[in-house]
Amino acid sequence: MPDVKFWQERFEELGKHSVGPGETQTEADLEDHRQFFVRGIAEWLPQLRGPVLDFGCGVGRWAKDLPRPYLGLDLTPEHLDVCRAKFGNQHDVRFELSETLTSLPDGSFNTIFTCTVLQHIVELDERRRIMKEFSRLLSGDGTLLSIEWAEGQRQFDWCRAVTNSDLRQWLKAEMVGQVRENGRCHTIWIARQKQLSFWGRFLGIYRSQRSAAASFMRRD
Ligand SMILES: C[S@@+](CC[C@H](N)C(=O)[O-])C[C@H]1O[C@@H](n2cnc3c(N)ncnc32)[C@H](O)[C@@H]1O
Repeated sequence: MPDVKFWQERFEELGKHSVGPGETQTEADLEDHRQFFVRGIAEWLPQLRGPVLDFGCGVGRWAKDLPRPYLGLDLTPEHLDVCRAKFGNQHDVRFELSETLTSLPDGSFNTIFTCTVLQHIVELDERRRIMKEFSRLLSGDGTLLSIEWAEGQRQFDWCRAVTNSDLRQWLKAEMVGQVRENGRCHTIWIARQKQLSFWGRFLGIYRSQRSAAASFMRRD
């Protein structure tokens, strides 16, 4: 499984381009690759509402496009250093180690975003544990937007397709598109909380309104 050492070794070899596919070497290549995804989610991106959690934010490729307040979490401290150097002066943007996930308050995000992250969490139990956390953290009418390695292509021990069955235990997921580039294919997933009862929905709306002033976005 790709652990923090895997990402640190890639970072040592390729620097901040290590979050791109294969041997991405330049800023331009990294951005070209991202633009395929930007086009794939063009319909969804403007609909996303903050607060947003960018889970597995890498070197902050998406931080400029996602709404505010913004929290980027990542496993790799070196990636977070790059993010803080780029965005550290913005008051409504924060970056933290992903181990803080479990301590974030319930219902505190209107959007959770992942791009090529869950595919690298290859143990299904761990994937589902994270989906359970996502379900806990999303507001009642919040949206998870994920772009992840699609089924029907080669699988690796460091990258496995994300499927509806990984998502559906905790959320109601729908495949809304696919992005094909350079022989690779990624699925675009939109997931929401499962249908709630009247009182569940009422509580969800209440939680989502409180989240606007979420205390986790405050700086001490
Ligand atoms: C392929 S990169 C994508 C980065 C970013 N989402 C992007 O699109 O530029 C995968 C990222 O996921 C992070 N990652 C891997 N496993 C993780 C985990 N269990 N929790 C949080 N982040 C993780 C890695 O450190 C890396 O930054």
